[in-house]
Amino acid sequence: MKGVVLAGGLGTRLSPLTRVTNKHLLPVYDKPMIYYPVETLVKSGIEDIMIVTGGNAAGDFLKLMGNGSEFGLKDLYYTYQRGEGGIAEALSLAEHFVSGDKVVVVLGDNILEDNLSEAVQKFEKQKRGARIFLKEVTDPQRFGVPVFKNGKIVNIEEKPKKPKSQYAVTGIYMYDSRVFEFCRKLKPSKRGELEISDVNNCYIKDGSMQYDILKGYWTDAGTFDSLLHANKLAALKAESS
Ligand code: G1P
Repeated sequence: MKGVVLAGGLGTRLSPLTRVTNKHLLPVYDKPMIYYPVETLVKSGIEDIMIVTGGNAAGDFLKLMGNGSEFGLKDLYYTYQRGEGGIAEALSLAEHFVSGDKVVVVLGDNILEDNLSEAVQKFEKQKRGARIFLKEVTDPQRFGVPVFKNGKIVNIEEKPKKPKSQYAVTGIYMYDSRVFEFCRKLKPSKRGELEISDVNNCYIKDGSMQYDILKGYWTDAGTFDSLLHANKLAALKAESS
């Protein structure tokens, strides 16, 4: 199983904090943001990890994390996304690295409490398909939102004005190697990006999408409010451990 952290983009929702640096290098309590998704993967037992970066200060990731020894890794792999093509385009850049294996993808601004090792083991046994993680939220219109029918997800709507459930599709995704074929078939959305929700909808149509609900806290950190919230959660967690 491979791990990929997506840490590109211009982080415009956090401007001017992101005018000269990359969103994922900003502090979340006592660590740079990127440490959290990398630790999420390491704690779940994944040792082969690639960071897809881009935008401002891309070279600083190498300076910060080097070969990953601080996380107990033998190596850490990096690649670079030119421009702003969206999450699914960023993921496509990891195809060669994933090389026919299964992959766990974590968005670089997602901060969560759960240990995913059990879910990773379940996914290792799952013959094919994908697995996503949901979390109940008060503001689903900010996220990908699942539409349910008889307890099954029948569609995911990206940032719907009128959400059909109270759940967010979090930025942790598990895919089989067909994900790259699905990415190639995508068309840019209205915001001109290849959307990860469209990739997930390919698996839903294929009938091979499973989901879990996160038990602990989860937040993204891509807006001022969510960044502040992420800092508070990380501080509380550090105090209690
Ligand atoms: C992205 C995805 C969205 C998902 C969210 C989780 O949104 O497009 O489906 O719910 O991450 O953090 P973005 O942060 O790019 O607006």
